[in-house]
Amino acid sequence: MKNQVIAISTNKGGVLKTSITTNLAGVFAARGEKVLIIDTDNQGNAAVTFGQNPDEYEQTLYDVLVDGKPAEEVIVNVAENVDLLACNDDMTFFEFDVLTHKDEYTDVFKLLDKAMGPLREKYDRILIDTPPNLGLTQGNVLATADAVLIPFHPEKYSMRSLTKILKAVREFKEQHNEKLEVLGVVATLVNKRTTLHKNVMMMCRDYVMANGFRFFKTNIPLSVQFASAVAFEEKPMTIAQPGSEHAAFYFELVEEIMSDKIKN
Ligand SMILES: Nc1ncnc2c1ncn2[C@@H]1O[C@H](COP(=O)(O)OP(=O)(O)O)[C@@H](O)[C@H]1O
Ligand SMILES: [Mg+2]
Repeated sequence: MKNQVIAISTNKGGVLKTSITTNLAGVFAARGEKVLIIDTDNQGNAAVTFGQNPDEYEQTLYDVLVDGKPAEEVIVNVAENVDLLACNDDMTFFEFDVLTHKDEYTDVFKLLDKAMGPLREKYDRILIDTPPNLGLTQGNVLATADAVLIPFHPEKYSMRSLTKILKAVREFKEQHNEKLEVLGVVATLVNKRTTLHKNVMMMCRDYVMANGFRFFKTNIPLSVQFASAVAFEEKPMTIAQPGSEHAAFYFELVEEIMSDKIKN
């Protein structure tokens, strides 16, 4: 499916949301697609990944959402075939500003959806990076996305968090966005040598599949190499070193996403 809007969402931080967003952008761009990343997290890490300082942007997603600034005027190019609608600390005020002027908006969950109109036509793939919680920002993302990819870090309590996010997505779909699909769950920061990881992974995989969702066979292993590509080359791994064994995990993940068959 082209012109697809994929949100990378979960209610946790540090589970590779930004890494997946930016690396998948690299993979789709390498496949010849025109890709847009929309960063909705006030940490602005998508811009950081491409070596930029998000606080230096005069205008960001905040201006688009709150002041109705056309997104095309705010979007910047960050790599070949990859554009970015950046986010920075301004976004910290988004929820407060919108909710204190609630009467000025017809639907506070549809602000991003409104801005997306002209963008859907312009890009083959739009990837949305999200904050680590389920607030108004995440609501705006889930109200416009076609699909949601859920990263999950196997640890003792991750089953609880996975259950919550899947339930939240299901409820959100019913109330605000009928077309929203769960693309699947991808395990991240996996250390195969740890028995706990193996056990939790198996439990979560069974749970995800029993609920009719897809659990990707490809996972992203724990490795310091990924962070060093960002630090030294100021690019995600799939753009800095597309032929490396580490980039291969993301290329495989996209292969799996694009294949219709569920091969669990
Ligand atoms: N495969 C990996 N193994 C270990 N650390 C990683 C890996 N990929 C990325 N990292 C690092 O893990 C941290 C959290 O990743 P990030 O994508 O920012 O998570 P999130 O967006 O969910 O908060 C970052 O410092 C990142 O550089
Ligand atoms: Mg992030």
